[in-house]
Amino acid sequence: MKTKVVVTDYIEPDLNWESEEFARRGVDFEYHQLKFEPDEKVIEATQDADVVVVNMVKITAKIVAGWKKTKLVIRHGVGYDNLDLDALEKAGIAPCYVPDYCAEEVAEQAIALIMACGRRVVSSRKVLDDSSASGIWDFAPMIPIFRMGGQTLGILGCGRIGSLVYKKLSSFGLRFLVCDPYLTEERKQELGIETVDKETMFRGSDFVTIHTPLSSETRHIVNSQTLAMMKPTAYLVNTARGPMVDSEALAGALKRGVIAGAAIDVFDREPPPLDYPLFSLPNAILSPHLAWYSEDAAWTIRKLIVLEVDRFIAGQPSRYVAKKVN
Ligand SMILES: NC(=O)c1ccc[n+]([C@@H]2O[C@H](COP(=O)([O-])OP(=O)(O)OC[C@H]3O[C@@H](n4cnc5c(N)ncnc54)[C@H](O)[C@@H]3O)[C@@H](O)[C@H]2O)c1
Repeated sequence: MKTKVVVTDYIEPDLNWESEEFARRGVDFEYHQLKFEPDEKVIEATQDADVVVVNMVKITAKIVAGWKKTKLVIRHGVGYDNLDLDALEKAGIAPCYVPDYCAEEVAEQAIALIMACGRRVVSSRKVLDDSSASGIWDFAPMIPIFRMGGQTLGILGCGRIGSLVYKKLSSFGLRFLVCDPYLTEERKQELGIETVDKETMFRGSDFVTIHTPLSSETRHIVNSQTLAMMKPTAYLVNTARGPMVDSEALAGALKRGVIAGAAIDVFDREPPPLDYPLFSLPNAILSPHLAWYSEDAAWTIRKLIVLEVDRFIAGQPSRYVAKKVN
């Protein structure tokens, strides 16, 4: 029997390369764009798949119940909060994910956003335009800017991406407040860091960058209480997952000057609607959930997904099993 691989949704311009790779292996391959479709449509497309590859479609218990012989689900990406892990476990289906294709890129995006906040790069264009229009330099809207060296960066979650942010910024003369209660002593020693509790990190940081998985513990971890702990001159950077930040609370905090600004790559609704609360705020820098992207990363993940299917056909275990986080 031929192995059948079905893709529920994808972000590549096309999957011609995958089609050729799977044809060479004698694998049946189908792909769809079912991101906004009801569960029934997803079931119809995937019910006789051996392997389901999913990007953003929510894999619900109902969908899992509709599968006749699926043995493996591959989440195209790092976070796997769109998979119902309990339902998959009950059905004896192994979920896996690809956590090792874009850590460099996300760390670089977080650093770019931290720098953009600290140096007010985005709003400086308006200052230039207004000054050109009036014929006089007026830097007042850009003030204050502080030297990066000597400021404190809070890192919430020091796994693959958070630890890269730490390593890459270590030569900037920053102080670090790392909050990650699950980091082993061995890993802390390896990185040469101590960790602090959440409150110490929020209160003491000039920048807070989020790098935790989305879980019941981290959902709305940035809320009106934690925002109130932050310095009025501090910035929040989120390249992890949108629902970790209460976006209404953040918008309110940005309007009232509770914190100085925020830079956000991920949203609780994606893409965010035009009336999204952060869109109208000059002290919010926004990017379209593209922290992961580089030409290199985009190809790496495609190859790693085909490799995962090869391993499945060869009866080998997945490289990274998606496990429940708190
Ligand atoms: N924007 C993008 O394009 C993009 C791309 C890739 C990954 N991501 C997101 O980046 C995040 C980090 O990915 P990663 O590969 O570094 O994950 P990882 O699993 O390697 O690291 C996560 C770290 O968070 C820690 N953690 C868990 N719960 C915590 C808590 N309550 N408080 C503090 N720390 C906690 C864990 O101990 C771990 O060290 C994920 O949310 C992922 O979805 C976003």
